[in-house]
Amino acid sequence: MALLLWGQWSDAQRDDWLARLRAALPGEDWVLDPQAPRAAEVELAVVANPPPGSLRGLPRLRLIQSLWAGVDRLLDDPTLPPGVPIARMVDPAMNEAMTQTALWATLSLHRGFFQVLAQQREALWRPPPQARAAECQVLVLGLGELGGRVAQALAAQGYAVSGWSRSRRKPPPGVLALSGDAELAPALGRADVVINLLPLTAQTRDFFDASRLAQFRRGAALVNLARGAQVDEVALLAALDDGRLGHAVLDVFRQEPLPAGHAFWRHPRVTVLPHTAAQTDPRSAAEVVAANLARLRAGQTPWHLVDTGRGY
Ligand code: NAP
Ligand code: GLV
Repeated sequence: MALLLWGQWSDAQRDDWLARLRAALPGEDWVLDPQAPRAAEVELAVVANPPPGSLRGLPRLRLIQSLWAGVDRLLDDPTLPPGVPIARMVDPAMNEAMTQTALWATLSLHRGFFQVLAQQREALWRPPPQARAAECQVLVLGLGELGGRVAQALAAQGYAVSGWSRSRRKPPPGVLALSGDAELAPALGRADVVINLLPLTAQTRDFFDASRLAQFRRGAALVNLARGAQVDEVALLAALDDGRLGHAVLDVFRQEPLPAGHAFWRHPRVTVLPHTAAQTDPRSAAEVVAANLARLRAGQTPWHLVDTGRGY
């Protein structure tokens, strides 16, 4: 039996992953090309957004382990081998990084620090008002691995946190759980900061269109840490320009890297991050892969399987 490592990355990134995976899984036979003759022996494919078509024709494949948390690009491949389960990455270091990014964005918005940075460029001495954390309403969309931790960390800092999920998942301590369209609209109307951590699915594509942005409280901020295709960028720019939205912190975009001429780069009320809110950390993720392979071989259900019907 063999293991496949395959993705869209530089040789240096691939070599780093291979070294980490070899350390976590000593003695395994790694194949680095799905077209190689030995690929016929592959039981586990460890992949990072592989080009469509690359997992076709692996007769012994039993599990696809994504190195990404979001599997939208992987699921877009119509040639994925039917019936082979897909596990997504749930990496403790990624959870920690996402929590840090959400805390930084919320704190900067609540205390007016993005505005202060802009003022510095013009040598303006203008202290912003100092609201308390409890006076700042934060709505986290998605209460899964990442959203749940983000919501919990924000509540621990004293923010007034609500979390919206499909199934009204049991919320972390101090977080108000919401679900369904009927609860979303009033929550959007109350929130000062809306943090998006929904997976990209058929239901969440173009989620932030003009009509949903119109439900935001005037002057509120959107923090998009999930996927660019969930935002109608033209509608977002219009909402920022007419003051409906006060600020947007955007880590993800419809086209990445964000094209040099895109209006977001120079918009005074947009903060652009280069899809860096939370990366998979090979040091911890290699252990996650090893644990899932052990479960597979022991006849146990691997962790964090994707429900392909739901799309996440
Ligand atoms: P997850 O554990 O699968 O959680 C997804 C959450 O979204 C769940 O609470 C789920 O509800 C909710 N949800 C899904 N569809 C919904 C819908 N139509 N309406 C309402 N709620 C819905 O995912 P995760 O690990 O937290 O990751 C979330 C996303 O973050 C990923 O898919 C990826 O796109 C993005 N991400 C971004 C970065 C970055 O660096 N920017 C890094 C990693 C991940 P239930 O609880 O009811 O199932
Ligand atoms: C990053 O965006 C991921 O999905 O892991």
